[in-house]
Amino acid sequence: MHIPQTGLSKQEILATLRAFKSRDMDWKSGRVFCYVYNPGEDPTEVTREAYLEFLTENGLDPSVFPSMLKLETDVVRMVLNLLHGDSNAVGHLTTGGTESIMLAVKTARDKARAEKPHIKEPEMVLPKTAHAAFHKAAHYLSVKPVLVDIDPATFKVRAEDMEKAITENTILLVASAPSYSQGVIDPIEEIGKIAQNHNLLFHVDGCVGGVHLSFMRKLGYDIPDFDFSVPGVTSISTDLHKYGYAAKGCSVIMYRSKEIRKYQIFACTDTTAYTLINPTVLSTKSGGPYAGAWAVLNFLGEEGYMRIIKTVQDAVKKLIDGINAIPELHVLGGPVMCMFSFASDSINVYQLADEMTKRGWYIQGQFSTPLTPRNLHISINFGNAHSVDALLKDLRECVEVVKTKTPIDTDMIKAMVGTALQSPDPEAAFGQLAASAGLTGADLPSEMTFINEVLDNLPDALCNVFLVNYFNDLYV
Ligand SMILES: Cc1ncc(COP(=O)(O)O)c(C=O)c1O
Repeated sequence: MHIPQTGLSKQEILATLRAFKSRDMDWKSGRVFCYVYNPGEDPTEVTREAYLEFLTENGLDPSVFPSMLKLETDVVRMVLNLLHGDSNAVGHLTTGGTESIMLAVKTARDKARAEKPHIKEPEMVLPKTAHAAFHKAAHYLSVKPVLVDIDPATFKVRAEDMEKAITENTILLVASAPSYSQGVIDPIEEIGKIAQNHNLLFHVDGCVGGVHLSFMRKLGYDIPDFDFSVPGVTSISTDLHKYGYAAKGCSVIMYRSKEIRKYQIFACTDTTAYTLINPTVLSTKSGGPYAGAWAVLNFLGEEGYMRIIKTVQDAVKKLIDGINAIPELHVLGGPVMCMFSFASDSINVYQLADEMTKRGWYIQGQFSTPLTPRNLHISINFGNAHSVDALLKDLRECVEVVKTKTPIDTDMIKAMVGTALQSPDPEAAFGQLAASAGLTGADLPSEMTFINEVLDNLPDALCNVFLVNYFNDLYV
């Protein structure tokens, strides 16, 4: 594709762009159970207009755009107040959970460099359920992730196991409120005490939970303390572009004090260009996501969020009860908000996901680990809460369909994976295996069961290599 010699008309462009979406999953119908958080038409329209109003303003320099400073400090303060931050607590807006988490890790690393210079190989202690963004931060920032197993009955980390993993190189403890995979909250209060006893920073990943759990608490649900009200919690990430229902590109990274936050900020004058001071990863940044977040928080207000969250939690209860009533399925652990996963002892859940996809639903498959069975994940939000009866009906029917299908021969798949692993070039052999399953080019195969089986049986390291190669081929 080349830039056209002569520009196209607005009509042509918009029609073409809309046509690009024709093969996307239809999230507007409420049949997609991840990736999209839809507060309904009016809040979306207000967000859209606010976003466009600030499309071109640049957050790089608050002296030129004081409006951006105002938007950012207002939004951060609203979220800090929700999360019991006191007047010493501070924060910044970022582009998403991953950036917020990377900054929390960078801050911990640079604080340790300044205050504990004897630490040459910094480590952070992570529950196995921590989001992959921490592994990415570890990879980018040369901090070693020390993984702690979870309790396989509750899917929560045990505080004593976190403590055992602390060494003289530890710079940061991490826990989730809640974790994505099973939607459970780690023992934040106990880990907070450990952090204080060992004089360590402690980050709570509230990317999905920060807003939703806070309003559940206001509605009277039984939610354990997970925020700055817990002594020892030193930073929290909360994504507004998830259950804050803001437009994508907006998360908040918050610290208990400026003394910690200062290690996040980067300044550089060692250049012939303009003086650069960046509190977050990006330098030039659109005002759109900031204005969108400011708008939706103010448009919904506390009452609007509580209405949404009540609707969502009612749907969650119905769906969890309905899934547990299907004899072949069971929900894992005790999910606390609106994200959970379910597994089966008798049918192949990847086949179930494929059957549901054929009926227009999207439910995310999650691979097994030594402590968690393979499972399917569901995130409910206001935009799909109305679909739970239809979802349950199709789940019941699809379980029956899967029962009539030839079961996947997992021993055969294990043997194929084993053969590929023993080949002189396992990467290439596995690439061939994936190609035979139809996983090449931009089009995903219509059925994912086979490829999910193969990936689930691969050692993590090789699985990661394969996925990197796949994406390396997918994009030009
Ligand atoms: C618990 C948790 N933390 C962090 C992230 C990363 O957020 P993002 O996709 O906005 O980078 C996610 C994403 O789903 C998450 O669920």
